[in-house]
Amino acid sequence: MALKLDCGYLKEAIRDHEYTMMQPLVKCAHDLLESRQGPGNDFLGWINLPTDYDKEEFARIKEAAARIQKNTDIFIVIGIGGSYLGARAAIEFLKSENYNALKKDTPDIYYAGNSISSTALAELVSICEGRDISINMISKSGTTTEPAIAFRVFREILEKKYGKEEARKRIFCTTDKEKGTLKHLADTEGYETFVVPDDIGGRFSVLTAVGLLPIAVAGCDIDALMAGARKAQEMYCDPDIEKNDCYKYAAIRNIQYNKGRTSEVIVSYEPCFNMMNEWWKQLFGESEGKDGKGLFPNSVTFSTDLHSLGQYIQDGRRRIFETVIQFEKPKHEIVIGHDPDNVDGLNFLEGKSMDYINKKAFQGTALAHTDGSIPNVVLHAPDFSEDTLGQIIYFFEKACAISGYMLGVNPFDQPGVESYKKNMFALLGKPGYEEAKAALEARLS
Ligand code: PA5
Repeated sequence: MALKLDCGYLKEAIRDHEYTMMQPLVKCAHDLLESRQGPGNDFLGWINLPTDYDKEEFARIKEAAARIQKNTDIFIVIGIGGSYLGARAAIEFLKSENYNALKKDTPDIYYAGNSISSTALAELVSICEGRDISINMISKSGTTTEPAIAFRVFREILEKKYGKEEARKRIFCTTDKEKGTLKHLADTEGYETFVVPDDIGGRFSVLTAVGLLPIAVAGCDIDALMAGARKAQEMYCDPDIEKNDCYKYAAIRNIQYNKGRTSEVIVSYEPCFNMMNEWWKQLFGESEGKDGKGLFPNSVTFSTDLHSLGQYIQDGRRRIFETVIQFEKPKHEIVIGHDPDNVDGLNFLEGKSMDYINKKAFQGTALAHTDGSIPNVVLHAPDFSEDTLGQIIYFFEKACAISGYMLGVNPFDQPGVESYKKNMFALLGKPGYEEAKAALEARLS
């Protein structure tokens, strides 16, 4: 079963000729990507990744995951941005947003190094007390401050708890294949390492060891995940937008942007998609938000947020459009029972499944928002399987690349991320930043 883009709710918002006028731009973006002549062309390893990946490493990931599952109560994934969001999003989507609370024979999984909050890290340290832990430090550069701090803290805890020799067997590093501080440290200490390929940026890395090791530890089928992505790789290579839903979605985003929409809101009706929203926001925000351009990516989960942001979407400033992801088959079903007294007045729903009600909420909301001049495009997905997730990941990665080229940006760099780092290092007194420190402190005083 494949993903399907539904443009039915867009009829009033986009006329047929608007798609036609976008086709040459889509073709141009496609040619640029395929010929590998566009900006950021040294970061295109994700395009063929579903077919062209390191099979030996893939097998090693499965072996390591099986070992971790046997000797670990808590697996800590240390990373930030693209080095963490994909793994967490996939695990919560495939297993549950309450994964740690489920009855299961796989380790609990916690995430560290994605903030500089001492409160969050100290809390996690105390959760780990008395339990067997293993850690996966993930950093392509090997120098990112947030994960580096968490890694230092947990390495010390592991070495105290198990001694250096046993700790070594419980520390896994995912980083550059040959260079960087983390690779050097891992080789010196004898930690098992996995590779972030040179030609794949963080936000496109979920189907590399960056995502696959934690996903496999959680007991998900990574073969099926890659198979789903492979399916999408085959499906989304035709430059004709009438034959390629992924490219049509990229065209729709640019049509909306050109009409003055400033924000795209991704919508789902499933809480297990919440972290996928975060992954999607990083993918599009970091890829397109540059050179003074780009849609601001935002997210909501309905019907939850219909009771908060729903008011704004229905009635506030008309600058947004919605991309809804709808799942045909729920993971679990609940049917509404009979109450002889009908005290809550819900007997009209008797015998109906909650998923049926959820889908009516979607239809009613899509019509209401469309009536309120908020365009809706809908991506239908069959279920919550690994195969479907592989398709969703690849669909959005490729759409993001095409959309970014159509917008006229380099979708594969992130120059803006450096600004806060430079200031923070200067204010912290990192050697080499002395002049900047003085200038920033003068501004602060
Ligand atoms: O997408 C990106 O490139 C970023 O989000 C990085 O993944 C993030 O900044 C972490 O970088 P690193 O993996 O080098 O620690």
